[in-house]
Amino acid sequence: MITYESQRVAYPYFIVALLLFALQVVIGLWLAVNYAFTLPQGLVDVFPFSTARAMHTNLLVLWMLLGFMGGTYFMIPVESRSELFSTRLAYVQLIVLVTTGVAALIGFLFGWTQGRPLLEIPFTLDIFIVIGALIFLFNVAMTLLRANNWTVIQGTLLGGLASLALLYLFGIPFYKNLAIDWYYWWWVIHLWVEGAWELVTGAIIAWILMQITGVERQVVEKWLYVEIGLFLFTGITGTGHHYYWLGAPRYWLWFGGIFSALEPLPILLMVVDTFRHVKERKLQIVNPVVWIFAVGCAIYHLIGAGVWGFIHTLPQINYYTHGSQVTVSHGHMAFFGAYALLNLTVFYYAFPKLKGFEHFHQNMGKWGFWVTSSAMFVLGLAFGVAGVLQSYLERVLGMGFMIAQAQMQLWFKVAIGSGLVFLVGVIIIIYDLLRMKPAEVRR
Ligand code: HEM
Ligand code: HEM
Ligand SMILES: [Fe+2]
Repeated sequence: MITYESQRVAYPYFIVALLLFALQVVIGLWLAVNYAFTLPQGLVDVFPFSTARAMHTNLLVLWMLLGFMGGTYFMIPVESRSELFSTRLAYVQLIVLVTTGVAALIGFLFGWTQGRPLLEIPFTLDIFIVIGALIFLFNVAMTLLRANNWTVIQGTLLGGLASLALLYLFGIPFYKNLAIDWYYWWWVIHLWVEGAWELVTGAIIAWILMQITGVERQVVEKWLYVEIGLFLFTGITGTGHHYYWLGAPRYWLWFGGIFSALEPLPILLMVVDTFRHVKERKLQIVNPVVWIFAVGCAIYHLIGAGVWGFIHTLPQINYYTHGSQVTVSHGHMAFFGAYALLNLTVFYYAFPKLKGFEHFHQNMGKWGFWVTSSAMFVLGLAFGVAGVLQSYLERVLGMGFMIAQAQMQLWFKVAIGSGLVFLVGVIIIIYDLLRMKPAEVRR
């Protein structure tokens, strides 16, 4: 059951996010087909790899941001003990963002793109994204200011969301000097996923853990301070791990290597923190599935971002792996572990409440978790093996790109297989969330 009527605006955000997630995965499969097989040139001319890739990654960013926004709208009425400032603004914002997103996807098909990976959206549409983001920030800030029941969780969330919006601005202008252009590109990409998004994650996970375990706020928030401090310190200095080979001064090799190697620490702390909360829990956990997703998120976050990130972060290794399928392996494991599972945790927590009950049948959700998580692991390994091969063949033996690709095709076929299983997992989750029915609590 929801406590505040305005929490309902979260529902359409979640539904759109889930649909875009499914579409993202289907296009991911198509990308793997492009690598695994030689496609007819006529087809490639009409629907090139770069277009499909732009759709895959922009859908990813869009569904995750919509999920965060819906999650925020679901959470802040309870946290600040007041209705949202305006539900109408929240709906207008959703329409603006979704329309812009759809326009961008159609635009990509006709070559309307700025060309930079992950930030392909053209300038005109960027303006609408900024408008949507401003409506969102205004609505959230006004709700919190009006309620005036500030907590560390609210502050962290608002800080994370505001810096997320601010950083996007650095990716809008185009610099003719490509070194400078890439320099600022990382301000969005890196400082998003290893800075702003981590703050949002910290706040949301802390809140959900507090809700489902009943652990005291002071305990949760004390840790949040430490985590955020460390996340900001290592995340900001860690940006240096992207400045090795783009024409920036040499000292970045040292600076980026050392500080980014510390980045797994706050993530590890988050896992330890999560387990402490379970031990100290005061309530019986009503829906174990939420719990599985939350713990899974903490652990997978550590594996995908912390371990997989650490593997290639030192310049001595990155020299060989830079921009190879090793990077792609890490990109998938980290995004899935940290942010897909975070969103799914929020959905599983919020959906029964939005539908007006507390307890639901847990089986399908558990299957959804294990199928997606293990399939993503195999997918990550397949890209990883392809990446190690690629690094060796191209960077050690000096083979040409296409000759090396031919040796990697087997692993892209494995990627298609595991990707299909992953898609099944996503369908299970979407079906389960949409068709969820109340169940009796077993004592
Ligand atoms: C949840 C957090 C993270 C996410 C979502 C994430 C995601 C990504 C993505 C998508 C890329 C590829 C960007 C591109 O070139 O297109 C990337 C690159 C990279 N990431 Fe992460 N990452 C995370 C955390 C980390 C951490 C903690 C480390 C280090 C300890 C790390 C180290 C790296 C490095 C070194 C690269 C550059 C690879 C190259 O040179 O090609 N990442 N990350
Ligand atoms: C069926 C499942 C999926 C398959 C087969 C797949 C396949 C691919 C392929 C082939 C690429 C292009 C890599 C390149 O440019 O060399 C790609 C890019 C990417 N995908 Fe997926 N994908 C899938 C699902 C996902 C999911 C669930 C996520 C996130 C949660 C994701 C995140 C990404 C990211 C961040 C990139 C850019 C990586 C980079 O720049 O290094 N993908 N995907
Ligand atoms: Fe980074």
